[in-house]
Amino acid sequence: MGAPMSDDARLDFCRRLAADAGRLAHGAFGRAAMLPAKGRHDEVTAMDREVERTVREAISRAFPADAILGEEDGASADVGCAEFVWIIDPIDGTANYARGIAHYCVSIGVVRDAEPVVGALHDPSHDRLYWAARGAGAWLAERGTTRRLAVSPIDALTAATVECGWSLRRPQADYVALVDRMLTAGCAIRRAGSGALGLADVAAGRTEGYAELHINSWDCAAGLLLVTEAGGRINDFFAGGGLLAGNPILATNAALADPLAALACVPLRHDA
Ligand code: IPD
Repeated sequence: MGAPMSDDARLDFCRRLAADAGRLAHGAFGRAAMLPAKGRHDEVTAMDREVERTVREAISRAFPADAILGEEDGASADVGCAEFVWIIDPIDGTANYARGIAHYCVSIGVVRDAEPVVGALHDPSHDRLYWAARGAGAWLAERGTTRRLAVSPIDALTAATVECGWSLRRPQADYVALVDRMLTAGCAIRRAGSGALGLADVAAGRTEGYAELHINSWDCAAGLLLVTEAGGRINDFFAGGGLLAGNPILATNAALADPLAALACVPLRHDA
């Protein structure tokens, strides 16, 4: 099955760009130069900036009419009026990357009229390349094979694993309450430090949900599409200015969508 015609060129380009950018980042893994932190527990390395610069330049050359939003360099001037917006996280899981923990990725998503249409993630530590295109499925290439992704069939909270992402952008008490509700309902909890890979885990059926009180669009633009194309459910993340300001996020498998939405206090879309 192929991607819809209008997005073919962007899908192919996005996939290759994410793979190249992941290899670039991985070249400095374990010896990344730290830059002054953006805030408490908000690190940045020289490689975050180098990867974003490289990716932005490549997109601008290939698709000059498209807008770009990146974690490090922000939004291009045309972000409010361009038909397509490319959303880049040069290294998602920077805290892991900076500490030599091999759980990070490059995430590149494309939205059209606030709907994700194409996305790719490269996890260079495991040489896993994920991608999705709207209506064409979610896919994973690793160890020389490519397979279509599907969310987990688990339908009992007591058998579910939910990743609860954390940042200082929301009050600690709210995070503790979220985790408490999940644990009390019988879920197992994890927090691995890359929202993008957390969403890829939901898409690949390794976990049943990913919840976070606030996340930025560059952390999740590609991953949200992976989840819906793998048969999962997501909230309306891009509503109400989510592209530029971020929003809460919930992504689930299909079977536990309703109970996880109730536990996370985040309504899910019915059409995606
Ligand atoms: C962070 C990670 C983390 C999530 C945070 C993000 P960064 O992104 O995705 O898992 O919980 O909300 O800010 O800083 O590593 O790109």
